[in-house]
Amino acid sequence: MKQSFIRIGLLGLSILGISLLHYLTPLHLHYLHDIFQRFYYLPIILAALWFGFRGGLTCSLLVSIVYAPHILFQWGGQLTVEMEKYLEIVMYNIVGSVTGLLAQRERERSLELQRTAEGLEESCNKLQAQSERIIAIEEQLRRSEKLSTLGEMAAVLAHEIRNPLGSIRGTAEILRDDYRPGDPKHEFIEIQIKETERLNHVVEDFLRMARQQPVELRDCSLREELETIMTLVSRDAHERGVALSLEAGTDPAMIRGDGEKLRQAFLNIILNALQATPTSGSVEIVLDRDETGFGIHFRDNGSGIAADNLQRIFEPFYTTKTDGTGLGLAVTRKIIEAHDGKMDIESKPGQGTTVSIHLPLPTGGTES
Ligand SMILES: Nc1ncnc2c1ncn2[C@@H]1O[C@H](COP(=O)(O)OP(=O)(O)O)[C@@H](O)[C@H]1O
Ligand SMILES: [Mg+2]
Repeated sequence: MKQSFIRIGLLGLSILGISLLHYLTPLHLHYLHDIFQRFYYLPIILAALWFGFRGGLTCSLLVSIVYAPHILFQWGGQLTVEMEKYLEIVMYNIVGSVTGLLAQRERERSLELQRTAEGLEESCNKLQAQSERIIAIEEQLRRSEKLSTLGEMAAVLAHEIRNPLGSIRGTAEILRDDYRPGDPKHEFIEIQIKETERLNHVVEDFLRMARQQPVELRDCSLREELETIMTLVSRDAHERGVALSLEAGTDPAMIRGDGEKLRQAFLNIILNALQATPTSGSVEIVLDRDETGFGIHFRDNGSGIAADNLQRIFEPFYTTKTDGTGLGLAVTRKIIEAHDGKMDIESKPGQGTTVSIHLPLPTGGTES
Protein backbone atom coordinates (compact mmCIF):
# COMPACT_ATOMS: atom_id res chain seq x y z
CA MET A 1 0.00 0.00 0.00
CA LYS A 2 2.68 2.44 1.10
CA GLN A 3 4.84 1.31 -1.79
CA SER A 4 2.03 2.05 -4.30
CA PHE A 5 1.70 5.60 -3.01
CA ILE A 6 5.41 6.19 -3.32
CA ARG A 7 5.32 4.85 -6.88
CA ILE A 8 2.34 7.01 -7.86
CA GLY A 9 4.10 10.00 -6.35
CA LEU A 10 7.26 9.26 -8.31
CA LEU A 11 5.32 8.94 -11.58
CA GLY A 12 3.46 12.18 -10.93
CA LEU A 13 6.66 14.02 -10.14
CA SER A 14 8.44 12.76 -13.22
CA ILE A 15 5.54 13.73 -15.50
CA LEU A 16 5.43 17.13 -13.87
CA GLY A 17 9.21 17.52 -14.24
CA ILE A 18 9.25 16.56 -17.90
CA SER A 19 6.30 18.85 -18.66
CA LEU A 20 7.99 21.77 -16.95
CA LEU A 21 11.07 21.17 -19.08
CA HIS A 22 8.84 21.25 -22.12
CA TYR A 23 6.93 24.38 -21.28
CA LEU A 24 9.92 26.32 -20.00
CA THR A 25 12.39 25.53 -22.74
CA PRO A 26 12.37 28.16 -25.51
CA LEU A 27 10.88 26.90 -28.75
CA HIS A 28 13.93 27.52 -30.92
CA LEU A 29 15.78 24.76 -29.06
CA HIS A 30 13.62 22.16 -30.74
CA TYR A 31 16.24 19.42 -30.56
CA LEU A 32 15.80 19.61 -26.75
CA HIS A 33 12.04 19.37 -27.16
CA ASP A 34 12.56 16.24 -29.27
CA ILE A 35 14.51 14.69 -26.42
CA PHE A 36 12.06 15.70 -23.69
CA GLN A 37 9.19 14.32 -25.73
CA ARG A 38 10.77 10.85 -25.43
CA PHE A 39 11.35 11.22 -21.71
CA TYR A 40 7.59 10.63 -21.27
CA TYR A 41 8.07 6.96 -22.15
CA LEU A 42 9.88 6.45 -18.89
CA PRO A 43 6.94 7.08 -16.51
CA ILE A 44 4.54 5.40 -18.96
CA ILE A 45 6.56 2.17 -19.09
CA LEU A 46 7.16 2.23 -15.35
CA ALA A 47 3.46 2.73 -14.65
CA ALA A 48 2.63 -0.18 -16.95
CA LEU A 49 5.15 -2.44 -15.24
CA TRP A 50 4.03 -1.46 -11.77
CA PHE A 51 0.26 -1.21 -12.23
CA GLY A 52 -0.55 -3.27 -15.33
CA PHE A 53 -2.85 -2.37 -18.18
CA ARG A 54 -4.94 0.20 -16.34
CA GLY A 55 -1.88 1.87 -14.82
CA GLY A 56 -0.11 2.09 -18.19
CA LEU A 57 -3.14 3.48 -19.98
CA THR A 58 -3.98 5.98 -17.25
CA CYS A 59 -0.44 7.27 -17.29
CA SER A 60 -0.28 7.56 -21.09
CA LEU A 61 -3.63 9.40 -21.16
CA LEU A 62 -2.39 11.74 -18.47
CA VAL A 63 0.78 12.40 -20.44
CA SER A 64 -1.35 13.03 -23.56
CA ILE A 65 -3.49 15.54 -21.70
CA VAL A 66 -0.46 17.38 -20.36
CA TYR A 67 1.38 17.30 -23.63
CA ALA A 68 -1.48 18.22 -26.00
CA PRO A 69 -1.76 21.93 -25.00
CA HIS A 70 1.95 22.27 -25.66
CA ILE A 71 1.46 21.16 -29.26
CA LEU A 72 -1.72 23.12 -29.71
CA PHE A 73 -0.68 26.43 -28.24
CA GLN A 74 3.07 26.54 -28.41
CA TRP A 75 3.67 24.85 -31.73
CA GLY A 76 0.64 26.34 -33.40
CA GLY A 77 -1.33 23.13 -33.66
CA GLN A 78 -1.22 22.75 -37.42
CA LEU A 79 -1.95 19.15 -38.22
CA THR A 80 0.33 18.93 -41.24
CA VAL A 81 3.33 20.46 -39.46
CA GLU A 82 2.93 18.75 -36.15
CA MET A 83 1.95 15.31 -37.47
CA GLU A 84 4.94 13.76 -35.82
CA LYS A 85 4.00 15.14 -32.42
CA TYR A 86 0.40 13.87 -32.66
CA LEU A 87 1.74 10.48 -33.68
CA GLU A 88 3.90 10.54 -30.58
CA ILE A 89 0.75 10.86 -28.47
CA VAL A 90 -0.75 7.84 -30.16
CA MET A 91 2.51 5.98 -29.48
CA TYR A 92 2.37 6.91 -25.79
CA ASN A 93 -1.01 5.25 -25.47
CA ILE A 94 -0.07 2.19 -27.46
CA VAL A 95 3.10 1.66 -25.45
CA GLY A 96 1.27 2.28 -22.16
CA SER A 97 -1.53 -0.19 -22.84
CA VAL A 98 0.52 -2.91 -24.56
CA THR A 99 3.30 -2.87 -21.96
CA GLY A 100 0.65 -2.84 -19.23
CA LEU A 101 -1.15 -5.83 -20.72
CA LEU A 102 2.06 -7.80 -21.07
CA ALA A 103 3.26 -6.94 -17.57
CA GLN A 104 -0.11 -7.86 -16.12
CA ARG A 105 -0.19 -11.21 -17.88
CA GLU A 106 3.33 -11.95 -16.76
CA ARG A 107 2.47 -11.08 -13.19
CA GLU A 108 -0.64 -13.26 -13.23
CA ARG A 109 1.36 -16.15 -14.59
CA SER A 110 4.03 -15.84 -11.93
CA LEU A 111 1.35 -15.61 -9.21
CA GLU A 112 -0.24 -18.76 -10.55
CA LEU A 113 3.12 -20.50 -10.62
CA GLN A 114 3.75 -19.42 -7.05
CA ARG A 115 0.37 -20.75 -5.97
CA THR A 116 1.05 -24.05 -7.69
CA ALA A 117 4.43 -24.26 -5.99
CA GLU A 118 2.87 -23.54 -2.61
CA GLY A 119 0.19 -26.14 -3.20
CA LEU A 120 2.82 -28.66 -4.18
CA GLU A 121 4.89 -27.91 -1.12
CA GLU A 122 1.86 -28.24 1.12
CA SER A 123 0.85 -31.59 -0.25
CA CYS A 124 4.46 -32.73 -0.05
CA ASN A 125 4.55 -31.78 3.64
CA LYS A 126 1.23 -33.50 4.23
CA LEU A 127 2.47 -36.64 2.54
CA GLN A 128 5.62 -36.61 4.59
CA ALA A 129 3.72 -36.16 7.85
CA GLN A 130 1.39 -38.95 6.86
CA SER A 131 4.15 -41.36 6.03
CA GLU A 132 5.87 -40.53 9.29
CA ARG A 133 2.68 -41.30 11.16
CA ILE A 134 2.24 -44.56 9.32
CA ILE A 135 5.77 -45.60 10.21
CA ALA A 136 5.20 -44.70 13.86
CA ILE A 137 1.88 -46.56 14.01
CA GLU A 138 3.38 -49.56 12.30
CA GLU A 139 6.15 -49.70 14.83
CA GLN A 140 3.70 -49.29 17.70
CA LEU A 141 1.57 -52.10 16.28
CA ARG A 142 4.57 -54.37 15.95
CA ARG A 143 5.50 -53.65 19.54
CA SER A 144 2.05 -54.07 20.97
CA GLU A 145 1.66 -57.34 19.08
CA LYS A 146 4.79 -58.62 20.68
CA LEU A 147 3.73 -57.26 24.04
CA SER A 148 0.25 -58.71 23.86
CA THR A 149 1.30 -62.29 23.10
CA LEU A 150 4.05 -62.07 25.64
CA GLY A 151 1.64 -60.36 28.00
CA GLU A 152 -0.99 -63.05 27.72
CA MET A 153 1.54 -65.75 28.38
CA ALA A 154 2.93 -63.78 31.23
CA ALA A 155 -0.48 -63.29 32.77
CA VAL A 156 -1.25 -67.00 32.79
CA LEU A 157 2.20 -67.86 34.08
CA ALA A 158 2.10 -65.16 36.70
CA HIS A 159 -1.16 -66.40 38.15
CA GLU A 160 0.19 -69.94 38.23
CA ILE A 161 3.40 -68.88 39.92
CA ARG A 162 2.03 -66.45 42.43
CA ASN A 163 0.07 -68.85 44.61
CA PRO A 164 2.79 -71.44 45.16
CA LEU A 165 5.21 -68.59 45.68
CA GLY A 166 3.04 -67.33 48.52
CA SER A 167 3.09 -70.78 50.14
CA ILE A 168 6.86 -71.09 49.78
CA ARG A 169 7.36 -67.75 51.43
CA GLY A 170 4.89 -68.49 54.21
CA THR A 171 6.46 -71.84 55.10
CA ALA A 172 9.95 -70.38 54.87
CA GLU A 173 8.99 -67.70 57.37
CA ILE A 174 7.67 -70.36 59.74
CA LEU A 175 10.86 -72.39 59.39
CA ARG A 176 13.02 -69.32 59.94
CA ASP A 177 11.64 -68.95 63.43
CA ASP A 178 12.99 -72.40 64.28
CA TYR A 179 16.59 -71.33 63.69
CA ARG A 180 18.42 -68.60 65.50
CA PRO A 181 20.22 -65.88 63.58
CA GLY A 182 23.80 -67.05 63.02
CA ASP A 183 22.72 -70.58 62.34
CA PRO A 184 23.67 -71.41 58.72
CA LYS A 185 20.19 -72.75 58.12
CA HIS A 186 18.74 -69.42 59.22
CA GLU A 187 20.77 -67.76 56.52
CA PHE A 188 19.66 -70.24 53.88
CA ILE A 189 16.09 -69.56 54.77
CA GLU A 190 16.73 -65.82 54.59
CA ILE A 191 18.08 -66.32 51.10
CA GLN A 192 15.03 -68.34 50.24
CA ILE A 193 12.71 -65.59 51.43
CA LYS A 194 14.66 -62.92 49.57
CA GLU A 195 14.62 -64.89 46.37
CA THR A 196 10.89 -65.50 46.59
CA GLU A 197 10.50 -61.76 47.06
CA ARG A 198 12.50 -61.11 43.94
CA LEU A 199 10.48 -63.63 42.01
CA ASN A 200 7.35 -61.96 43.24
CA HIS A 201 8.60 -58.64 41.86
CA VAL A 202 9.24 -60.17 38.49
CA VAL A 203 5.77 -61.66 38.48
CA GLU A 204 4.27 -58.32 39.42
CA ASP A 205 6.08 -56.63 36.58
CA PHE A 206 4.79 -59.28 34.21
CA LEU A 207 1.30 -58.77 35.43
CA ARG A 208 1.48 -55.05 35.09
CA MET A 209 2.52 -55.50 31.52
CA ALA A 210 -0.10 -58.08 30.74
CA ARG A 211 -3.00 -56.20 32.24
CA GLN A 212 -3.55 -53.48 29.72
CA GLN A 213 -5.00 -51.18 32.31
CA PRO A 214 -6.37 -48.02 30.77
CA VAL A 215 -4.82 -44.83 32.08
CA GLU A 216 -7.13 -42.78 34.24
CA LEU A 217 -6.71 -39.17 33.30
CA ARG A 218 -6.99 -36.63 36.06
CA ASP A 219 -5.45 -33.24 36.67
CA CYS A 220 -2.01 -33.97 37.96
CA SER A 221 1.08 -31.96 38.73
CA LEU A 222 4.25 -33.33 37.22
CA ARG A 223 6.29 -31.39 39.74
CA GLU A 224 4.45 -33.00 42.64
CA GLU A 225 4.81 -36.48 41.20
CA LEU A 226 8.53 -35.93 40.72
CA GLU A 227 8.89 -34.61 44.25
CA THR A 228 7.12 -37.69 45.61
CA ILE A 229 9.48 -39.94 43.69
CA MET A 230 12.44 -37.99 45.05
CA THR A 231 11.48 -38.79 48.63
CA LEU A 232 11.00 -42.42 47.63
CA VAL A 233 14.43 -42.90 46.09
CA SER A 234 16.58 -40.43 47.99
CA ARG A 235 17.58 -43.06 50.57
CA ASP A 236 18.55 -45.51 47.85
CA ALA A 237 20.61 -42.80 46.16
CA HIS A 238 22.26 -41.85 49.43
CA GLU A 239 23.25 -45.46 50.14
CA ARG A 240 24.78 -45.73 46.69
CA GLY A 241 26.68 -42.47 47.21
CA VAL A 242 25.00 -40.91 44.17
CA ALA A 243 23.98 -37.24 44.23
CA LEU A 244 20.34 -37.04 43.20
CA SER A 245 18.84 -33.66 42.32
CA LEU A 246 15.60 -32.27 40.99
CA GLU A 247 15.28 -28.93 39.23
CA ALA A 248 11.59 -28.29 38.75
CA GLY A 249 11.10 -24.54 38.97
CA THR A 250 7.92 -23.08 40.40
CA ASP A 251 5.45 -24.19 37.71
CA PRO A 252 3.30 -27.04 39.07
CA ALA A 253 3.33 -28.37 35.48
CA MET A 254 -0.29 -29.48 35.34
CA ILE A 255 -1.31 -32.09 32.78
CA ARG A 256 -4.13 -34.56 32.33
CA GLY A 257 -2.56 -37.79 33.39
CA ASP A 258 -2.53 -40.86 35.53
CA GLY A 259 -0.34 -39.87 38.46
CA GLU A 260 0.25 -43.38 39.71
CA LYS A 261 1.33 -44.69 36.32
CA LEU A 262 3.51 -41.67 35.66
CA ARG A 263 5.24 -42.19 39.01
CA GLN A 264 5.82 -45.79 38.01
CA ALA A 265 7.37 -44.62 34.73
CA PHE A 266 9.61 -42.01 36.40
CA LEU A 267 10.66 -44.50 39.05
CA ASN A 268 11.72 -47.06 36.43
CA ILE A 269 13.91 -44.49 34.72
CA ILE A 270 15.44 -43.18 37.92
CA LEU A 271 16.17 -46.66 39.24
CA ASN A 272 17.91 -47.53 35.98
CA ALA A 273 19.95 -44.33 36.25
CA LEU A 274 20.90 -45.03 39.86
CA GLN A 275 21.84 -48.60 39.04
CA ALA A 276 24.05 -47.46 36.16
CA THR A 277 25.83 -44.74 38.13
CA PRO A 278 28.91 -45.47 40.23
CA THR A 279 29.59 -44.05 43.67
CA SER A 280 30.05 -40.26 43.68
CA GLY A 281 28.29 -40.01 40.35
CA SER A 282 25.17 -37.94 39.89
CA VAL A 283 21.62 -38.21 38.63
CA GLU A 284 19.94 -34.95 37.66
CA ILE A 285 16.29 -34.53 36.92
CA VAL A 286 15.09 -31.39 35.14
CA LEU A 287 11.51 -30.40 34.45
CA ASP A 288 10.98 -27.72 31.83
CA ARG A 289 8.37 -26.48 29.44
CA ASP A 290 8.03 -25.40 25.80
CA GLU A 291 5.04 -24.27 23.71
CA THR A 292 3.78 -27.80 23.16
CA GLY A 293 4.26 -29.38 26.55
CA PHE A 294 6.52 -30.41 29.38
CA GLY A 295 9.92 -32.00 29.15
CA ILE A 296 11.41 -34.16 31.85
CA HIS A 297 15.06 -35.04 31.50
CA PHE A 298 16.82 -37.67 33.56
CA ARG A 299 20.57 -37.27 33.17
CA ASP A 300 23.08 -39.64 34.74
CA ASN A 301 26.83 -39.86 34.34
CA GLY A 302 26.91 -43.60 34.65
CA SER A 303 28.01 -46.44 32.41
CA GLY A 304 26.09 -45.35 29.30
CA ILE A 305 24.72 -47.73 26.70
CA ALA A 306 26.55 -49.04 23.64
CA ALA A 307 24.98 -48.00 20.34
CA ASP A 308 24.04 -51.58 19.45
CA ASN A 309 22.16 -52.05 22.69
CA LEU A 310 20.45 -48.68 22.53
CA GLN A 311 17.92 -50.00 20.03
CA ARG A 312 17.09 -52.97 22.23
CA ILE A 313 16.56 -51.45 25.66
CA PHE A 314 12.84 -50.89 25.08
CA GLU A 315 12.28 -54.52 24.14
CA PRO A 316 10.43 -56.46 26.79
CA PHE A 317 12.78 -58.80 28.66
CA TYR A 318 15.93 -57.15 27.34
CA THR A 319 18.26 -56.70 30.28
CA THR A 320 21.97 -56.57 30.94
CA LYS A 321 21.54 -57.09 34.67
CA THR A 322 21.78 -60.45 36.41
CA ASP A 323 18.72 -59.63 38.48
CA GLY A 324 16.87 -57.49 35.93
CA THR A 325 13.52 -58.28 34.35
CA GLY A 326 14.02 -56.16 31.26
CA LEU A 327 10.49 -54.90 31.62
CA GLY A 328 11.09 -51.49 33.20
CA LEU A 329 11.56 -49.44 30.05
CA ALA A 330 8.98 -51.42 28.06
CA VAL A 331 6.38 -50.61 30.72
CA THR A 332 7.59 -47.04 30.95
CA ARG A 333 7.28 -46.47 27.24
CA LYS A 334 3.77 -47.90 27.25
CA ILE A 335 2.75 -45.51 30.00
CA ILE A 336 4.23 -42.48 28.24
CA GLU A 337 2.58 -43.41 24.95
CA ALA A 338 -0.76 -43.82 26.72
CA HIS A 339 -0.34 -40.14 27.66
CA ASP A 340 0.39 -39.18 24.03
CA GLY A 341 3.91 -38.48 25.14
CA LYS A 342 7.27 -39.23 23.60
CA MET A 343 10.36 -40.78 25.03
CA ASP A 344 13.92 -40.32 23.78
CA ILE A 345 17.15 -41.70 25.01
CA GLU A 346 20.64 -40.48 24.34
CA SER A 347 23.69 -42.21 25.62
CA LYS A 348 27.46 -42.18 25.36
CA PRO A 349 29.19 -45.30 26.62
CA GLY A 350 31.38 -44.40 29.57
CA GLN A 351 29.90 -40.92 29.90
CA GLY A 352 26.26 -41.31 30.78
CA THR A 353 22.72 -41.42 29.64
CA THR A 354 19.90 -38.92 29.29
CA VAL A 355 16.34 -40.11 29.09
CA SER A 356 13.94 -37.39 27.95
CA ILE A 357 10.20 -37.50 28.15
CA HIS A 358 7.87 -35.05 26.47
CA LEU A 359 4.28 -34.83 27.65
CA PRO A 360 1.79 -32.63 25.77
CA LEU A 361 -0.17 -29.83 27.38
CA PRO A 362 -3.80 -30.65 28.15
CA THR A 363 -5.84 -30.00 24.97
CA GLY A 364 -7.98 -26.91 25.07
CA GLY A 365 -6.00 -25.79 28.07
CA THR A 366 -3.15 -23.38 28.51
CA GLU A 367 -1.76 -23.64 24.98
CA SER A 368 -2.34 -20.06 23.96
N1 LIG B 1 20.38 -44.97 32.66
C1 LIG B 1 20.88 -46.10 32.10
N2 LIG B 1 22.22 -46.25 31.98
C2 LIG B 1 22.71 -47.38 31.42
N3 LIG B 1 21.97 -48.40 30.96
C3 LIG B 1 20.65 -48.31 31.04
C4 LIG B 1 20.02 -47.15 31.63
N4 LIG B 1 18.68 -47.33 31.55
C5 LIG B 1 18.49 -48.55 31.00
N5 LIG B 1 19.65 -49.14 30.68
C6 LIG B 1 19.83 -50.44 30.00
O1 LIG B 1 18.56 -50.86 29.53
C7 LIG B 1 18.27 -52.16 29.99
C8 LIG B 1 16.79 -52.35 30.15
O2 LIG B 1 16.28 -51.58 31.21
P1 LIG B 1 14.93 -51.96 31.87
O3 LIG B 1 13.92 -52.16 30.78
O4 LIG B 1 14.61 -50.99 32.93
O5 LIG B 1 15.18 -53.38 32.48
P2 LIG B 1 16.10 -53.76 33.73
O6 LIG B 1 16.35 -52.53 34.51
O7 LIG B 1 15.29 -54.75 34.47
O8 LIG B 1 17.32 -54.35 33.13
C9 LIG B 1 19.05 -52.30 31.27
O9 LIG B 1 19.36 -53.63 31.56
C10 LIG B 1 20.33 -51.50 30.95
O10 LIG B 1 21.24 -52.27 30.23
MG1 LIG C 1 14.95 -51.10 35.09
